[in-house]
Amino acid sequence: MLDIEKKIEALSKEIVATSIANKDQLETFRIRFLGSKNCLKPLFGALKEVPNDEKKSVGQQINQLKQTAQEKFDDSQAQLEEQTETKESLDFTRPGEPQPLGARHPISVVRNEIISIFERIGYGISEGPEIEDDWHNFSALNFPPEHPARDMQDTFFVEKDDREMALRTHTSSVQVRVMENETPPIRTISPGRVYRNEAISARAHCFFHQVEGLFIDKDVSFADLKQTLLYFAQEMFGKKTKIRLRPSYFPFTEPSAEVDVSCTICQGSGCNVCKNTGWLEILGCGMVDPNVLEASDIDPETYSGFAFGMGVERIAQLKYRVNDLRLYSENDVRFLNQFKSAF
Ligand code: PHE
Repeated sequence: MLDIEKKIEALSKEIVATSIANKDQLETFRIRFLGSKNCLKPLFGALKEVPNDEKKSVGQQINQLKQTAQEKFDDSQAQLEEQTETKESLDFTRPGEPQPLGARHPISVVRNEIISIFERIGYGISEGPEIEDDWHNFSALNFPPEHPARDMQDTFFVEKDDREMALRTHTSSVQVRVMENETPPIRTISPGRVYRNEAISARAHCFFHQVEGLFIDKDVSFADLKQTLLYFAQEMFGKKTKIRLRPSYFPFTEPSAEVDVSCTICQGSGCNVCKNTGWLEILGCGMVDPNVLEASDIDPETYSGFAFGMGVERIAQLKYRVNDLRLYSENDVRFLNQFKSAF
């Protein structure tokens, strides 16, 4: 083996053995093997001394050596770059990105509160379809066909499977379904979305939410209804709240009443929210009409009951003083964010 070949072999071993673990070592390697005064250069000079018949093979060995050095350099450089990249993306000292916390919608907050008030006195929850047939939304509730009472609630009619159906105008329809399927005693509330064909304004919308209640048992009286509603009003608006009942009309209850609570803002002394009357209307109610019990096969000679229904938006409006109904469905986060502390 020629001297020059021994040198080539030694340098080749050195290249393999050199460890490159950081940028300084990489630079030292570059200067030694690839820089302008690198240690391979003298080999090219010494090539002149090599006998002619060996020149080709030795020349190839030197070129191979140079290539090995270049490859080792390239690989090490790429590896070091990768390491610094992953190091940067795993900076454990960086402060965390804050996660914005959502808020429950005010309608859900108030609906849940109404539900929980009635659950505490033994009411269960019933739900039903939003697309209803005429029977459950009207007929079973003592609205005779063509009766003008149907105009009380402007209805959206839709077609479903070739049948004329309605978007329910109240969740009393759910209570018909409960009466049809259960035997008294019945104690249930039906929360849900309802629809009415009204022009959208600050005070009216084409959909809103209700919670309606139904209690049927032996010997249920108007006094039971009144006490239940007083309990609800005081749980919802505070222990000092008073209620008053005004005679009213609904096809499905007899007698019927509308219920006012003492103004939650001025406590009855008069303000612009209660229009100086001291009272705010919150719901409709009454004793279930015997015709309604009969329509669901409940014997009105044995059983009596009361029903009531309220708008969730209305209660929310009084609790949070929201003066425009449209805010509830516009999804403006500036509005929704204000309910972050409510559950
Ligand atoms: N269903 C009535 C409405 O939608 C409310 C109501 C329910 C009134 C039960 C009396 C009794 O307005």
